[in-house]
Amino acid sequence: MKFVSAFVLALVLGFNGSAFADATAGQSTYAAKGCIGCHGAGGKSVVPTYPSLAGRDAAFIKKNLTDFRSGTRKNPTMNAMAAALKDADIENLADYIGSLK
Ligand code: HEC
Repeated sequence: MKFVSAFVLALVLGFNGSAFADATAGQSTYAAKGCIGCHGAGGKSVVPTYPSLAGRDAAFIKKNLTDFRSGTRKNPTMNAMAAALKDADIENLADYIGSLK
């Protein structure tokens, strides 16, 4: 497991500096937009009505935020939250949340 983490870190730092920057921006957005209030620190929700996001991959997060924003997936709370997100916010949030274990 330590080897795997070191390998992933090396991938992120060594081969794709921008992915690292995006996840860092995503972490700020996650706090600034209030996601953390419902979905919890590190994507681990402590309230049963709010799903944990840790363990979801970036593609899932991107698709669902895009669908909430367009109204394809309906939930009044998340439709309102996603309406305030720009494309770059969704990319960064997907990178950050996708990195959470
Ligand atoms: C007021 C509480 C609240 C806030 C704030 C909030 N969410 Fe949610 N979120 C929810 C609820 C409730 C659901 C479940 C919606 C449903 O049942 O379809 C959800 C679902 C999701 C899902 C889909 C999870 C799944 O397993 O299908 C994602 C992704 C998500 N939220 C991301 C975010 C992001 C990113 C933010 C910040 C921009 C955010 N949420 C802010 C309450 C919240």
